[in-house]
Amino acid sequence: MENNRGQWNSNLMFVFAAIGSAIGMGNLWGFPYKMGANGGLPFLLIYLVLVVLCGVICMGVEMAIGRKTGQSPVVAMSMVAKKFTIVGWFGVLSAFIIMGFYSVLIGYAVRYCVGFMFQLLVGINGFGGATTGADFFVTFTQDVPAVIFFTFVTLLLCLFYVSKGTEGLEKFNKIGIPGLFLILVGIIIYDLFLPGAKEGYVFMFSTKGMEIAGETFNFFKALRTAGGQMLFSLSLGMGAMITYGSYLGKKESIAKNAWIIPLFDTLAAIFAGMAIFPAVFATGNSVNAGPGLLFITMHDVFTTMGTTGNLIGMFFYLLVIFAGVSSAISLMEVVTSSIIDMRAVKEKKSNRTTVTTLVAVAIFIISIPIAVDQLGLAGDQGIFWNLYSYLGAGSQDLLDFYDMLTEGLMMPLGALLMCVAVGWVKGFDWMSEEVTVDNKTWKCKNFFRVCVKYVAPILMAFVLVSLFLSYLGL
Ligand code: TRP
Repeated sequence: MENNRGQWNSNLMFVFAAIGSAIGMGNLWGFPYKMGANGGLPFLLIYLVLVVLCGVICMGVEMAIGRKTGQSPVVAMSMVAKKFTIVGWFGVLSAFIIMGFYSVLIGYAVRYCVGFMFQLLVGINGFGGATTGADFFVTFTQDVPAVIFFTFVTLLLCLFYVSKGTEGLEKFNKIGIPGLFLILVGIIIYDLFLPGAKEGYVFMFSTKGMEIAGETFNFFKALRTAGGQMLFSLSLGMGAMITYGSYLGKKESIAKNAWIIPLFDTLAAIFAGMAIFPAVFATGNSVNAGPGLLFITMHDVFTTMGTTGNLIGMFFYLLVIFAGVSSAISLMEVVTSSIIDMRAVKEKKSNRTTVTTLVAVAIFIISIPIAVDQLGLAGDQGIFWNLYSYLGAGSQDLLDFYDMLTEGLMMPLGALLMCVAVGWVKGFDWMSEEVTVDNKTWKCKNFFRVCVKYVAPILMAFVLVSLFLSYLGL
């Protein structure tokens, strides 16, 4: 080992930890609803192209930067090129803002898990008497104190894991990730037998999606949505994978890991789509239901299963919570470790638990406006000051606005600058030296060379341009 930082025990541990960070609310909640709002198949195709030409590439770039420098994002980027230190700070800011809405979303899942648990154990309606998914979702999101309470519970859960060290969570990932895949496959199979489900496959895999959703396809909107979603889902563009790479042993293959993690992450997103879309049609919901899609549709599906549905619903949301928490703690870690490192530069010692607790408190504070906004409903009623209607680039609510700031703006910018820093400032050979260390072979080297230097930065620039076009109403 070149320095005294810890290291992953094996490549498998690394892969599980990285997949645990990647698979989260982005796959289960974000991907299906964004695909639903952007016409199905065309969005899926743009997404897949971006995964291969940018996702895999940036994954390799971040892991190489991390392992080569052996540092967390801010210091690592300053070592790559002084002028690019800001990219590391963007990452810290993004992580903080993402947690502001991420914790609210996991909070929703906690509420659903508790609801099904009550139905299972006590036999009463666990959803305040509501009989349809849509009814309950609207009631719940308007219950501001309840949303704040469940967000608080979520942050306590995150703090609990962070303070205990991530060992427990790593062990959990080994069961939780396969468990999540298994339950998704189970739901996909169950969906096959629901009347009306066929329309869901038509929506996902044929060109009729737009017609079904009653929308016109907007290429720029699909491109910026898919670009941001891809980076978010793969935990890229803000240095999280730099941190992970910094703990990766020299013996392990970056060339392989850069493909494996996006592969599993993308499978999880597509499986989530295949669990949700057929169910959308079978339960008479709408594909462009927006952020409520995961919650509303799945709630209805479990209701169709009768009593068994309570057990499966409880497990499903429990796995959603764990997928979410394992991602959330990687986000919190970005903020916490940066603060500790920064104080260390000034020769100040930090107590890890104190810093993490303060970070959690700050996240809780910025999450409160999201709860108060009630997914945009409060704004329409004139209760809440509608910041995003001035700055939001088409954001429909405050959650969407936080999302736009991070995955729409800061992360594509971060990914672009990292590719430029490696491909142009340091030169691609700097990266290839690291990937091929110990005489390792790298079959896709030339593909990476072209993509790091040209394809990925140009595509990210397009994503950013299309965000600015949205200000012009395009
Ligand atoms: N990728 C996670 C998801 O899909 C979210 C996430 C975790 C993340 N860590 C990150 C996003 C770091 C960006 C950067 O839910």
